[in-house]
Amino acid sequence: MEKTFFITTPIYYVNASPHIGHAYTTIVADVLARFHRLSGDRTFFVTGTDEHGDKIMEAARLAATTPQEYADRISAQFRNLWPELAISNDYFIRTTDANHIETVRLILQKVYDDGDIYFGKYEGYYCVGCERFYMEKELENGLCPDHKAAPEYRKENNYFFRMSKYQEWLIAYINENPDFIRPERYKNEVLSFLRDPLEDLCISRPKSRLNWGITLPFDKEYVTYVWFDALINYVTALGYPDGDGFRTFWPHAEHLIAKDILKPHGIYWPTMLKAAGIEPYRHLNVHGYWVVDQSKMSKSLGNVIKPLDLKDKYGLDPFRYFLLREMVFGLDSSFSEESFVQRINSDLANDLGNLVSRTMTMAMKYCAGKVPEVHSPSEEDWPLVDAAGKAVSEVEDSFRELALHKALIAIWDFISVTNKYIVECEPWKLAQDAACKERLAKVVYNLLEALRVIAILIFPFMPGSAQKIADQLGITDAASQGFSSIRLWGGITPGRSLSRAEALFPRVTYEKEKEKQTVKEGESQPVKPFIEYADFEKVDLRVAKIIAAEAVPKSSKLLKLKIDMGGERTLVAGIAKDYKPEELVGKKIVIVANLKPTKLMGIESQGMLLAAETDDGLTLLSFEKDPKTGVMIK
Ligand code: MSP
Repeated sequence: MEKTFFITTPIYYVNASPHIGHAYTTIVADVLARFHRLSGDRTFFVTGTDEHGDKIMEAARLAATTPQEYADRISAQFRNLWPELAISNDYFIRTTDANHIETVRLILQKVYDDGDIYFGKYEGYYCVGCERFYMEKELENGLCPDHKAAPEYRKENNYFFRMSKYQEWLIAYINENPDFIRPERYKNEVLSFLRDPLEDLCISRPKSRLNWGITLPFDKEYVTYVWFDALINYVTALGYPDGDGFRTFWPHAEHLIAKDILKPHGIYWPTMLKAAGIEPYRHLNVHGYWVVDQSKMSKSLGNVIKPLDLKDKYGLDPFRYFLLREMVFGLDSSFSEESFVQRINSDLANDLGNLVSRTMTMAMKYCAGKVPEVHSPSEEDWPLVDAAGKAVSEVEDSFRELALHKALIAIWDFISVTNKYIVECEPWKLAQDAACKERLAKVVYNLLEALRVIAILIFPFMPGSAQKIADQLGITDAASQGFSSIRLWGGITPGRSLSRAEALFPRVTYEKEKEKQTVKEGESQPVKPFIEYADFEKVDLRVAKIIAAEAVPKSSKLLKLKIDMGGERTLVAGIAKDYKPEELVGKKIVIVANLKPTKLMGIESQGMLLAAETDDGLTLLSFEKDPKTGVMIK
């Protein structure tokens, strides 16, 4: 029977450009969608952008443009990125789309008519970054636990969703459907949130404060809260309430998110669905976070990893492979270009690339470039045939539990068995003995069939490389072979013409030095949008003197500096590749003194120094004359 699969990614905020975290989730969704299509399932895959709310208003204001223009620009960056990463989404949704606005209003009205939305007073601590109110006890030293920023105290009349009414139902539902939220650690996290009484959810913002949102259908002075708008995208995309798409796909909804947005998806969304009379989604699949050098990626730390940079440097399939192989689904992973390069060389260039090129060379040489006539496998071939069967079933199991790294391990086990098969069969010796002609043909046939199995198995992960292998085997459309074609050994058609191609995965070298930004003399990088003088005045730049410097353990980039600017401070700076600690002591530098402190490798950095890129690394800003330490720079 045909099965059905519906996969979603979060819709990404348009207040920042896409980075490796967004790419990871979307690539995982793509791999799942491709696997299900390959298995013959009816599949629908949605991604998109989340465009309303305070954050976007603020980003647009800083970029001196309108929210709509800003949203159009960044949404297009996401939309244009996905084809570059071979993302095969069936639909791209924007929360500013007319059909979405209509669906949100329809659901709001329904829940309101049913009495689950009421008007009330609200007072509380509001974090703009999170777009939500916090209870005092949730704050850490009075700061938002996520953004480490002081929330605003706000008093407002607002509309509330009676979320508390559904608390008991949700607890029971999660207990009855133990894999509703998975992996288990995240189910437990949601259940632990639910141990405390659930408060009703404030779902409106007065237009006097925020008008970049969807107007409530029952009060035109208010817009809806960004989460009540965003989550509904998942049903808009299917044409709720009438579309066939909704009826077909909703019962199979698989949401994919990272742990940062567990609460809205694990609590708000199921209770919203319940109140709207829609059955719950099937699974919430939650993965961990990519971090860099143990720190969260952020613009201010300058450690944001951009997917296109890596794709351009190393190729798309190696990039996809690395992300999927490296992260254990559910746990955090640290990104390192060095381990990326190691994996390309060992798993891709050595194990898979060599297997393909050795097999094709032998097939061209010993079998005149054609798939040999079939012979059923001999006893000594069974281990290879069994290993293929094992890989196929392990890959299927791993997909079921979303353990994509395990699927890749299973495929690579089979690749290594196939490489061993070559060593054991010694085809080059068989080729020297006319009596072994038939055995040689059989060995080459088995190797070509192994490549076909591998091409289909890796197709969801690396569609381009899978097709390149298939091309060499004379298969014009790898995906059309289907997953079921590899359940039985012997699917490759005898007599088919083969062709040999260039190395699939050339070896790469890791350049320790960060790639130089080669800005030629007189050539300038684009200037950022204008800011007001008042914005500039907010930045406190000072002269500071370095009084001590030391390496940060386990980091190749960071140095810990003690500076004096009329008071001592600690700074963590990414200049270890450019300066030795002893060269720095005594130097006077420029620092941003009022940058919010942040932790790098566990050390709090209380400011940031200024430096410029040169052809051989960074150079610190210095002075022609000797200013006093602590002097303000204007
Ligand atoms: N707009 C909301 C989601 C609404 S869904 C109805 C939002 N947007 S976001 O742009 O902040 O994207 C968050 C998601 O991006 C994460 O859940 C995850 O899928 C991905 N990631 C962002 N940073 C990430 C890492 N550092 N690591 C892994 N994934 C991350 O929240």
